[in-house]
Amino acid sequence: MKILVTGAAGFIGSHTCDFLLSQGHIVHGADDFRTGRWANLALACVSPQFHLHEIDLSESGAIDRLVRQTSPDVLVHLAGLVSVQESIANPALNQLLNVHMTREVKRAVELNGVRRVVFASSAAVYGEPATLPLPESARKFPQSPYATAKLESEHLLSDCASAGGTTVICLRYFNVYGSRQDPASPYSGVISKFAQKFTAGEPPTINGDGQQTRDFIHVSDVARANALAATCSASGTLSLNICTGEPTTLLQLVDHFRRWFPDTPAVLHVDAKPGDIRHSLGDPSAASTHLGFKARVALGDGLGTII
Ligand code: UD1
Repeated sequence: MKILVTGAAGFIGSHTCDFLLSQGHIVHGADDFRTGRWANLALACVSPQFHLHEIDLSESGAIDRLVRQTSPDVLVHLAGLVSVQESIANPALNQLLNVHMTREVKRAVELNGVRRVVFASSAAVYGEPATLPLPESARKFPQSPYATAKLESEHLLSDCASAGGTTVICLRYFNVYGSRQDPASPYSGVISKFAQKFTAGEPPTINGDGQQTRDFIHVSDVARANALAATCSASGTLSLNICTGEPTTLLQLVDHFRRWFPDTPAVLHVDAKPGDIRHSLGDPSAASTHLGFKARVALGDGLGTII
């Protein structure tokens, strides 16, 4: 298949390109390199099946031109503003990269009759959960501009499914971790922050008591889920959790790291972060039913890929 991946040089995008290439697909990767990194594409660029497009996708008509030029069977739209905190600090940028850009995707899909779209949504659409584990039908309570934009994007894209018969699969990623996640960024996830601290021999900082839980999923599983959504036989409009269904407390996460770094000083506890979600856990059964997807990488093994 010929697959166009936006956000190809990002953390999830680059792993997705690598996986699609390993499956024999032709991949067109697009990125503006605002936060994406050339180094992430080192492996992809070795493949003659990979074609890189350095392009500002938020510019009016840019995605349409790219789709016309590449005629993909599937558009995997991963580009966007990836940080909740940045969406609060810069709501206009969030609007541009997470809402306007989705409108541009929708327009390109409609104008060019793209048959299938896979979209990077987020567990953030649920907000503070009323039930655990979260099924896709759970109440949506987005608590940040980022989360609101992801939910709005799901709705925008599902319109092109009902109007033009395009299959739209929105994947709600839970807490993704793995190599190529930038620990230096103030917006990085807890696992990359802890990995950086432990490898430097410094104690990690826990916000609150450390009993909060997350559903941590390895980026290789997420890349495989993206590929399954791009190539499976499911049709229509679907929103699916991409998660493990396994809760881990931050204290358990620290215990995992301690197996490699037994001599690191005791963790530092600071006040809980205002607005922090206490527990987040997804129900993975719908992704299993529709995509045949099940996470494979156990947390202990996944951490081994980043330290
Ligand atoms: C994450 C994502 C967010 C996504 C959401 C889905 C990141 C950075 N954020 O938010 O984009 O929409 O999941 O539900 O990936 N913590 C510490 N010490 C640290 C860093 C974090 O104790 O040094 C704590 C946080 O307070 C939080 C937990 O670790 O309780 C997880 O934090 P984080 O990795 O930032 O992710 P989420 O807040 O779950």
